[in-house]
Amino acid sequence: MIQEHVDLQSLNTFGLKASARYFCHADSEPVLNEALRFAQTRDLPLLVIGGGSNLLLREDFSGVVIRMALSGIAHEVRDDDSVCVDAASGENWHDFVAHCLAQGWYGLENLALIPGSVGAAPIQNIGAYGVEAGDFIESVRVLDIATGQQQTLSREACDFGYRDSVFKRSLRGNTLILGVRFRLWRQPQPNIRYAALAESLRGKQPGPQEIFDAVCAIRRSKLPDPAELGNAGSFFKNPVISAAHYARLQQVAHDIPGFVSGDGHSVKVPAAWLIERAGWKGRSVGGAAVYERQALVIVNRDHASAQDVVTLATEIMASVRQQFGVALEPEVQWVPPFSAT
Ligand code: EPU
Repeated sequence: MIQEHVDLQSLNTFGLKASARYFCHADSEPVLNEALRFAQTRDLPLLVIGGGSNLLLREDFSGVVIRMALSGIAHEVRDDDSVCVDAASGENWHDFVAHCLAQGWYGLENLALIPGSVGAAPIQNIGAYGVEAGDFIESVRVLDIATGQQQTLSREACDFGYRDSVFKRSLRGNTLILGVRFRLWRQPQPNIRYAALAESLRGKQPGPQEIFDAVCAIRRSKLPDPAELGNAGSFFKNPVISAAHYARLQQVAHDIPGFVSGDGHSVKVPAAWLIERAGWKGRSVGGAAVYERQALVIVNRDHASAQDVVTLATEIMASVRQQFGVALEPEVQWVPPFSAT
């Protein structure tokens, strides 16, 4: 089940050239365990990937790459209002959202068309159009890599935040996600609080299907399809700055958008606005470019190398820091990891 010298170009949506010394397509738990044992006995580093849609592979990987491909969806009706849906980590996220909608299990429609897999969703708590996956996750089934023990983590234990969870912090590198349990509604509860979504549905009383369609249409109009133009979605997180810092920026840039965060003392600013205002929209380094229709996305315009992407990203970060005093943080997972120093 372990392959050697496997090309990863088609397994990362950026379409960057890189290879794995060892590779395993883990479509069952025994195969997964075999790959883990293989890595452990040889003391090789592990890289676990799902859809490869949030990944910046900077070089060839000298250890074992495991592609999580566990499949299966099961459900259990809880009461008149809710249903529990268990999905294995290798299920495609968008197909899962579409499946839930078709079954009459509601809540995830705002998250339509996000690339990637179900198992990756809790890690960075994927979110779009006013909804985060963590809002609907009841628990996550995980495997401790060192001990081989399985465990179920409650939503509280996952400690979800904006593009953040325990899987990016204390459990990083030592835990594998096997499956996710969602609690979904059996009655539609449309969420159109996100301004761009409300705008596209103005004058309508949308149901879940209309929201699903509208989200797909907005995403298609703004975000490049990785099958046509390599990319990894938003390259940076939207920075959260202090209210005082935001007020200072308003003095020099009156139209700077900002969304007051929960505590009232901080403001989330669209990184896309900062990048565009710093003059980066459409600019390129080698084959990598800032997407013309959404400045938060870096695209593989023309056979980009990982170094092109890294140089472009680094220059954007330096320029936004210099012009606005704001530190952008990559949202995409860099392998080897990004380091601010
Ligand atoms: N904007 C610009 N220039 C641009 C694009 C946007 O100035 O080129 C400004 C506009 O003011 C706009 C604001 O940025 O109102 C927000 O733009 P948008 O609604 O496109 O959302 P975003 O903040 O850029 C976030 C997520 C996306 C998600 C959308 C919709 C992050 C890092 N990104 O982007 O998630 O789809 O909201 O909810 O939070 C992803 O994570 O890969 C991703 C695509």
